[in-house]
Amino acid sequence: MSSVILLLSGPNLNLLGNREPEHYGTETLEHHVRTATEAAATHGFELEHLQSNHEGVLIDAVHAARATTAGIVVNAASFTHSSWGLHDALAAYVGPIVELHLSNPDSREPWRRTSVIAPVATGCISGFKGAGYRLAVEAIVGEIRGRRS
Ligand code: DQA
Repeated sequence: MSSVILLLSGPNLNLLGNREPEHYGTETLEHHVRTATEAAATHGFELEHLQSNHEGVLIDAVHAARATTAGIVVNAASFTHSSWGLHDALAAYVGPIVELHLSNPDSREPWRRTSVIAPVATGCISGFKGAGYRLAVEAIVGEIRGRRS
């Protein structure tokens, strides 16, 4: 049984810290990864993180995660609204999937109100900025444990 949670970060999230702080806060991605890693460790899980600006790299990571991880937390960033390839890769993943956003896309431009990740996600955490990383890890740990009991 794997005790690894994969955190996937989509395009432009490498710029967090000085990218549109009114939407995404001022903390860096590194900071959020640390938050998620610490939250996972509290519950006896290990966190692996991958950020990419390239759709295929994220899809390959989901494929690899099928054999090695217990669950996926994914902030697909703008691919949330467009990537049916990522949707299909996640649809083929058997463990729980938590969709995560720093901002609340539903309260922003109309094009952000469509998520192609949502139909294949167990649930979504959005709008809580950096706190979402801890909440997402707690949600996925609960889901993993629930499925095992
Ligand atoms: C985001 C929301 C997306 O709409 C946007 O394209 C991002 C970040 C968020 O975390 O709030 O890049 O996923």
